[in-house]
Amino acid sequence: MNNLEELEIQLLLEGVFRHYGFDFRNYALASIKRRIWNAVRAENLRTISGLQERLLHDPVCLERFLLGLSVNVTSMFRDPTFYLAFRQKVVPLLRTYPFIRIWHAGCSTGEEVYSMAILLHEEGLYHRCRIYATDMNESVLRQAKAGIFSIHLMQEYTQLYLKAGGKYSFSEYYTAAYDNAIFRSTLKENLIFSQHNLATDSSFNEFNVILCRNVLIYFNNTLQDRVHKLLYESLGTFGILGLGQQETLSLTKYEDRYEELERREKLYRRIQ
Ligand SMILES: C[S@@+](CC[C@H](N)C(=O)[O-])C[C@H]1O[C@@H](n2cnc3c(N)ncnc32)[C@H](O)[C@@H]1O
Repeated sequence: MNNLEELEIQLLLEGVFRHYGFDFRNYALASIKRRIWNAVRAENLRTISGLQERLLHDPVCLERFLLGLSVNVTSMFRDPTFYLAFRQKVVPLLRTYPFIRIWHAGCSTGEEVYSMAILLHEEGLYHRCRIYATDMNESVLRQAKAGIFSIHLMQEYTQLYLKAGGKYSFSEYYTAAYDNAIFRSTLKENLIFSQHNLATDSSFNEFNVILCRNVLIYFNNTLQDRVHKLLYESLGTFGILGLGQQETLSLTKYEDRYEELERREKLYRRIQ
């Protein structure tokens, strides 16, 4: 990266933060750079500075920019062995709690949240749970709240559900309507969706379980440290932390504060 390009990226991210409060200054550089250039091309501009000018003067352009910047790829029962391990290793621990608070940080369009609601329902624990699902991006949260997904994905999700230890017929959980699969409203009863930015916001509760999967990979070390601190401080003692497959606690400051519950699946338990 040349110096001018780096300067333009820094100025743009600083401007977006100071003017709108969205802080991308500590996102991993390679991926943010690629996305910024995508936005420059999509806006028919030539330079990053040109994008900065438009962003600062046009909030609608910011909306488009935010969408392009957040990678919202997700799926129901993503990495199904994670859910299998959750059933086997975490559910028995949760059974001992009278009330269970769960936080999905960076929940995207909600597929992960509905997967967890289904799992807990099958384990007879859902009625004791409150699941907080947050993301920085309002528009993905709107989709998450609706609980409506493309019917074309259901075949794939059924396979993942079964690999995740699903106990019933997956189609029991939704009604098909044209191109949509509308998930049962009973699954939504204990879900709370809300905007929360891991780069700037603080803790808002104490949780028994926090899942923050496939989010930290987009952050640089400074921001990863911030988020690990936030997650640690938001977990009760013996609380469970679940990360994505490419993420880990090893070599972070918090490594010693957790024990590994399931190394391969990135499931940890806070011990101090
Ligand atoms: C790749 S998706 C992962 C979704 C889901 N957790 C999963 O594993 O399938 C990453 C999500 O992180 C969200 N995200 C990125 N930066 C964030 C931040 N600073 N605060 C909160 N959410 C953020 C994005 O909006 C996106 O929805």
